[in-house]
Amino acid sequence: MLKLNESLFIAKGAFRATYNHPLDDTLCVKVDHDKNPRVALKRQEREIRYYQKLQRKKCPFRNISNFVGYVDTNYGQGYLYEKVVNHDGSPSQDLETVLEAFGAEGDTEILKDIKALGEFLLQHRIFYHDSLIRGNTLCRKRKDGSYELVIVDALGDTVFIPVLNYIPAYARARIIRKWSKYVINPMLKQFAWVKREDIALD
Ligand SMILES: Nc1ncnc2c1ncn2[C@@H]1O[C@H](COP(=O)(O)OP(=O)(O)OP(=O)(O)O)[C@@H](O)[C@H]1O
Ligand SMILES: [Mg+2]
Repeated sequence: MLKLNESLFIAKGAFRATYNHPLDDTLCVKVDHDKNPRVALKRQEREIRYYQKLQRKKCPFRNISNFVGYVDTNYGQGYLYEKVVNHDGSPSQDLETVLEAFGAEGDTEILKDIKALGEFLLQHRIFYHDSLIRGNTLCRKRKDGSYELVIVDALGDTVFIPVLNYIPAYARARIIRKWSKYVINPMLKQFAWVKREDIALD
């Protein structure tokens, strides 16, 4: 059994807490901390099924931290993922924090990175169901100061009739709609320096 402790803690969301893997620097371990473990487990299993589907489709995991496997821990069932860290090994900040740090001036490079992330999701027909700004996309800082965006949560499909997603035009339109809901609209609301045309998908 893998022993976790609070000195390994990275961050947590509503359902899961993320820890540094004590024996492997490249990995992190997620454990459920929700009061309703049945809901958390269902959510986790749905996410793993989606990652396995992407793996089968040979989708590149360039902008996604991949699911690597299961591990038993002293905090309960653990899930292993590739850890997102900066070039110097320090923890990567989430997209919202990085955008806030640019201040009123903003930054055009990061908007290009965000648009490229959207194009990546569209190209590989990857669905998501939650904000990609707060907590769920991390910004891996390169040595030259630029960022690589990596999604760590919120992927998966919640469509009512899944077969519809096999119709390319339908899937495309849905991904573009979700991009407005989970990326463009929240960014326009929060950051006056962001223009819709900089990050819109077409
Ligand atoms: N692969 C990773 N590498 C580094 N840090 C990570 C990784 N995955 C998650 N984290 C950190 O842990 C936090 C919580 O993880 P995650 O978003 O998966 O939890 P969650 O409970 O499912 O979130 P939500 O509240 O969005 O449902 C993230 O916001 C991020 O700061
Ligand atoms: Mg999250």
